[in-house]
Amino acid sequence: MRRNLIAGNWKMNKTAAEGVALARELKDKLSGQCCCCNGPQVLVCPPFTTAAAVAAELKDSCILVGAQNIHWADNGAFTGELSGAMLKDLPVGWVIIGHSERRQYFGETDETVNKRTKAALKHGLHPIVCIGELLAEREANQTNAVLEKQVRGALAGFTVAEMATVVVAYEPVWAIGTGKVASNEQAQEAHAFIRSLLVTLFGTDVAGATRILYGGSMNAQNAAGLLAQPDIDGGLIGGAALKAADFATIVAAAK
Ligand code: PGA
Repeated sequence: MRRNLIAGNWKMNKTAAEGVALARELKDKLSGQCCCCNGPQVLVCPPFTTAAAVAAELKDSCILVGAQNIHWADNGAFTGELSGAMLKDLPVGWVIIGHSERRQYFGETDETVNKRTKAALKHGLHPIVCIGELLAEREANQTNAVLEKQVRGALAGFTVAEMATVVVAYEPVWAIGTGKVASNEQAQEAHAFIRSLLVTLFGTDVAGATRILYGGSMNAQNAAGLLAQPDIDGGLIGGAALKAADFATIVAAAK
């Protein structure tokens, strides 16, 4: 039985003070309804500069804190990047890797996603590896081919044991931040395909245990339908994660 994970991707939003205010509001709204009491795991991923203050605010709660990127090297001449040890300093325990915005605007490739994911595992961080097709690729019936290339590339060389901490997020690029959500059927079909790839690559035990999150305009209204699908094990939520009430509704839908 896979436990749902509801993860908020705050992207480049919230200063430390704003982030603490949102975290406090979330903590109040979620008290008694999440993580500690058999509910879904709940995670927030603020910007690096906000993460330490948010982690301090959530220290005694069951809400987990993650980052939005990690570099593969332990240190060195990589201006603007952060290493696994630095993320652990914040402290965070999770990290989003290969988000489509990173792929689209910052040159992220399956190869760099693979290296960053390896670094996360090396440092004992839980990676959330993002994959997903562009609208043009879906319209050209290339969705499965794209997902297969991304899964094989991102997870190349991982052992069955390493896969135990990896979470995959399926985020159709055309649904991110557009308000255009995948239908329950479209999302389920993609998730089932991703799980079948995991069977091929790592065997049925790993495939059965790996959580596959849906991301792309998930909100308080559509979350229940998506989360009811057999192969959807939670959500990676952008816009709706910035509103405590909406995020709490999504967490409640994941129970
Ligand atoms: P969205 O973003 O919920 O605003 O579509 C999801 C994501 O990019 O992770």
